[in-house]
Amino acid sequence: MSKQATITVGIVTVSDRAAAGEYIDLGGPALREAAGKYGWSVAAEAVVPDDAQRIQECIRAFAAQGCGLILTTGGTGIAPRDVTPEAIRAIMRVELPGFGEAMRMRSLQATPNAILSRALAAVVDRALVVALPGKPAGAVECLGHVAGAVEHGVKLAARLPTSC
Ligand code: MTE
Repeated sequence: MSKQATITVGIVTVSDRAAAGEYIDLGGPALREAAGKYGWSVAAEAVVPDDAQRIQECIRAFAAQGCGLILTTGGTGIAPRDVTPEAIRAIMRVELPGFGEAMRMRSLQATPNAILSRALAAVVDRALVVALPGKPAGAVECLGHVAGAVEHGVKLAARLPTSC
């Protein structure tokens, strides 16, 4: 990947209610807009229920179709159906704890509820996966807290040559 090459992004909204059509997905579109502002190219989007297998299948399918960065939104909390972290950890090669640490540390300056998210990042196949909270503004905010490391993280996850 040259310095100018754009990052190809897949966005996965994880929500039982959005997947059932009970409400309109706002998190996915919010992340699509944010990705555009970073100059990234959104190639795939999906809404899946809070089901580990469906989450895993979607992440792997997006990675297989060439998404170097996969953003999920939702299911990072402590409700009984919140299984996004477990779903990702079951298929990841390595976790990148600094992403979750930074998202919580920096978001805590805006809301004490940030500590209730188990947001994380991991390498799955050759993609960097960043699991963000479900609230659209929170997801965009958390992405902003880690965006500076995304380009290098995507290159490392893809096992492309890097300058450091
Ligand atoms: N992080 C930021 N930056 N802004 C927020 O508003 N909401 C929190 C937290 N993280 C929030 C945030 C709340 S209220 C919850 S319950 C958790 O994310 C988990 O959300 P999720 O289960 O929808 O992923």
